[in-house]
Amino acid sequence: MKTVEEKLAKSLTAESIELIPYLPYLLQDLWELGSSPKDILNMITKHVHVSVETRILDLACGKGAVSVNLARELGCRVKGIDIIPEFIDFAINKAQEFGVEKLCEFKVGDINESVKTEKDYDIVIYGAVGDVLGNWEETITLLKNTVKNGGYIIIDDAYGNDNTSAKYPTREQWLKIFNSTGVRLIDEKIIEDDELASLNNKQQELIIKRANELKEKLPQKAHLFDSYIRSQQVECDELEKEISGVTMLLRNLAESL
Ligand SMILES: C[S@@+](CC[C@H](N)C(=O)[O-])C[C@H]1O[C@@H](n2cnc3c(N)ncnc32)[C@H](O)[C@@H]1O
Repeated sequence: MKTVEEKLAKSLTAESIELIPYLPYLLQDLWELGSSPKDILNMITKHVHVSVETRILDLACGKGAVSVNLARELGCRVKGIDIIPEFIDFAINKAQEFGVEKLCEFKVGDINESVKTEKDYDIVIYGAVGDVLGNWEETITLLKNTVKNGGYIIIDDAYGNDNTSAKYPTREQWLKIFNSTGVRLIDEKIIEDDELASLNNKQQELIIKRANELKEKLPQKAHLFDSYIRSQQVECDELEKEISGVTMLLRNLAESL
């Protein structure tokens, strides 16, 4: 079984846990680390009745791009949890910058622990986090426990195309997982290829610049930074060619069980 560190490294496309201490430096120029705040906001606005009472939980919130944007646009309360302290500091600063610090609470923590205690949210977000909480059935079951009956779960992941990619379930397979875990797919937004390619190129450029700086400072670890750039590229290519990145809005059906 993979350790928390191994899953953390993988969630940020790092091949080895040796890279973890360098991730805040490598990713310092990025705010969004996976999910599109705009897509999530649109989905919530379209399907969920939001008021000042609405409470949102953003698990593995990264640098808070989704949380801060939701608090700004919807005026609701958001709690974000991430295991990297530098990311949480960044999120707190962003909340202050946008004047939503009273609506946002950011905390350093392991979400494997948070899912045991965080309860009764209206919406939980699990954006581009991968297998940190286990396989998909396990993940959805744990996420369900954090929301109210009839509450919503937003997952950002990928549909495998046909059966070519064993790593990701196809859309059909996702639907079976939803069925067996008692959630209903309410909406889905597949990331468009050109939108994705332009975002990937921009982000890749920023990461390569920082990786080159680290290589100069720490030449003995150059292999580590080179392999990070390679794995980022592989993930970008995979997303552009073999799988479809998707944001899914699910509803917890517990009230009707
Ligand atoms: C690809 S990023 C996505 C961040 C954010 N959800 C977004 O879309 O911008 C994955 C995040 O998962 C976090 N993470 C990985 N394992 C974790 C754990 N056990 N507990 C909390 N956060 C974790 C990482 O620190 C990283 O910020």
